[in-house]
Amino acid sequence: MFLKQEDVIRLQEKYGTPLYVYSEAVLRERCREVKSLLPNKRLRVNYSAKANTNLDLLKIVREEGLDVDAMSPGEIYVEQLAGFESNRIFYISNNVSAEEMRFAIDRGIMISVDSLSQLEMVGQINPGGKVAVRFNPGIGAGHHEKVVTAGKKTKFGVQREFVPEVKAILSKYNLTLAGINQHIGSLFLDGKVYVDSIRSLLEIAREFPNLSFIDLGGGFGVPYKPEDNRLDLKKLSVDLDSVLSEFLKDYPNKEVTFKLEPGRYIVAECGILLGTVHSVKQNYETTYVGTDIGFNVLIRPAMYDSHHEVTLVKKNQQNTAADHEVVTVVGNICESGDILARSRKLQKAELGDILVVSNAGAYGYAMSSNYNCRLRPAEVMIGLDGKDRLIRRRDTLESLVQNFVY
Ligand code: LLP
Repeated sequence: MFLKQEDVIRLQEKYGTPLYVYSEAVLRERCREVKSLLPNKRLRVNYSAKANTNLDLLKIVREEGLDVDAMSPGEIYVEQLAGFESNRIFYISNNVSAEEMRFAIDRGIMISVDSLSQLEMVGQINPGGKVAVRFNPGIGAGHHEKVVTAGKKTKFGVQREFVPEVKAILSKYNLTLAGINQHIGSLFLDGKVYVDSIRSLLEIAREFPNLSFIDLGGGFGVPYKPEDNRLDLKKLSVDLDSVLSEFLKDYPNKEVTFKLEPGRYIVAECGILLGTVHSVKQNYETTYVGTDIGFNVLIRPAMYDSHHEVTLVKKNQQNTAADHEVVTVVGNICESGDILARSRKLQKAELGDILVVSNAGAYGYAMSSNYNCRLRPAEVMIGLDGKDRLIRRRDTLESLVQNFVY
């Protein structure tokens, strides 16, 4: 928690809630940590921007010297607005149209494709050009089946058995395979599965002796529950170094660069979400604390049963320890699944109290929506000088209807 209770109250009063609040100091620290993961290797870290595409955060990430990946023309657009040059953006496409491919290619942005048919499409659009292929190393990982993106049950990547077909399409269109990439899934706290998947990817890499880069993917977890361990980055660094050194011993292109692609690890812990308690009620066995944090604001608990720590900041008086109770914290959306935190021991809540949700910087605002015609929240950055600055305005009723055709 990077904010004192009095600052939480001040921000709630100044900006209203729901409100995402970020710490520039924590964000910069995470960027530096990941950048120094493999000091002896030619390493580039691509921040996986889908986790949080706020312009202000992207500018800080750029200042810290990281590159970015992109998942759509929209992400490319925002990243360029944040000052990333084309050679610092890697478009990891999935089932995109020819127009979307052209959007990247026209801007000189490296694109990765993850099927033979999309490789054909690149060949037709950009014969003689450079491309990357996302392979499926056969091993996946992740906190929920919906975010496992390698292995046998996913739409992502090209399986190893199709290497001959990949080579045939490359040569048919005179394409250069600049790199290969993988992403096995989101959130592992033990690096072993990541390292195993990399061994498998490097076997595929040996089929292509002139790669300029090998992108090992993201997925680095952060502890959401107090009992979760922290990902041991020192151990991961040692293990990665040993696997990559072994690979380099007899890989022909000694100039090959390695890329990492973390999203969550960079931004999750720099963000918290503030909400306000608007009701406390008993329904049969359960005490519900009703807030303005509906799943349109933070969808992770409803979508993946994800855990976020929640704490209460009392506006008026501090309760004693005896005043805690087990409650279920819910939002203001018209679905019973609109549950932020189930059966949590919290201080007794009263109307006007502030709810603080931890680790909300990744896949928080980025996945928010206007469901129920709710306004997406505002975002605030606490700068290195300790001062708060608004970095995204809250939606307005006017912005909600701006695309209607009257
Ligand atoms: N690279 C690719 C190609 C990806 O698809 C992703 C995430 C990443 C990198 C970054 O993964 P990370 O380091 O953040 O785990 N909405 C879910 C997570 C979805 C991840 C999608 N892909 C959640 O809230 O848990």
